Amino acid sequence: MSKVTVIGAGNVGATCANVLAFNEVADEVVMLDVKEGVSEGKAMDMMQTAQLLGFDTTVTGCTSDYAKTAGSDVIIITSGIPRKPGMTREELIGVNAGIVKNVAQSALKYSPDAILVVISNPMDTMTYLALKSLGLPKNRIIGMGGALDSSRFKYYLSQALGCNANEVEGMVIGGHGDTTMIPLARLANYKGIPVSELLSAEELDKVVKATMVGGATLTGLLGTSAWYAPGAAGALVAESIIHNQKKMIPCSVALEGEYGESDICIGVPVILGRNGIEKIVELELNAAEKELFAKSAAAVRATNAVLKEINAL
Ligand code: 2OP
Repeated sequence: MSKVTVIGAGNVGATCANVLAFNEVADEVVMLDVKEGVSEGKAMDMMQTAQLLGFDTTVTGCTSDYAKTAGSDVIIITSGIPRKPGMTREELIGVNAGIVKNVAQSALKYSPDAILVVISNPMDTMTYLALKSLGLPKNRIIGMGGALDSSRFKYYLSQALGCNANEVEGMVIGGHGDTTMIPLARLANYKGIPVSELLSAEELDKVVKATMVGGATLTGLLGTSAWYAPGAAGALVAESIIHNQKKMIPCSVALEGEYGESDICIGVPVILGRNGIEKIVELELNAAEKELFAKSAAAVRATNAVLKEINAL
């Protein structure tokens, strides 16, 4: 039996639970929310699609009843406030730090062996907070940002190339922020053909820039932050763990010397399997990419420093 808990049944959490159920990632998916009835209602609604969509996963909801989440293999944290148009993810830290720490501690009491997937923003800093405050080994704390940003990168690449998004490869590393993420254009390819051979430097630059503000673009359109891709990205990470797929997915993880950084959680490609982070993949970055990565790490570190200022650490 496999079980995934999704904490927070808002747009992102509910979408994540829905994808987990539809793809039968786990036998059981539990949604937990503080708002009375919301996760129960959304779970019931999802279960009424089981016959329509043909899935066998059981989805249940509960209001702040952590006992119902007991024995989870993976806990996905989506709790907290989303950004409004014009806000950066970093501005959410004051409110979300307390929430993330609290829900993670409560859930781990009932699932002490679970692997934690952090979606709440600012994602790299919330992942770092989890690393520093929960006492879990680093292989069990994963921020999902790179999975989402890479999928947006592939979307924008496919739009520019006029091709199927599933035939494009591309990775985004660095922080999950409008100015900190690093779409690795040099390594992106269409069926093995480097995209630099298919797109002009200007076109590629446009794709990179659109990817970096991909979340902000959607926040502007929607009036709140996006949920379909963030929820699906969380489910993709959980799936590679639960099914021991050993997929290489860029995620925010604790570095101890890799990429020249330590005491930080930031996006790099990792192999995800039953133990959570099975391996950190060290790419051979060129000088320009190394510089971008160091800058990104400095910015993430500056946001992490706020955790101390607000006594969250
Ligand atoms: C996004 O980029 C919610 O941070 C998330 O859409």
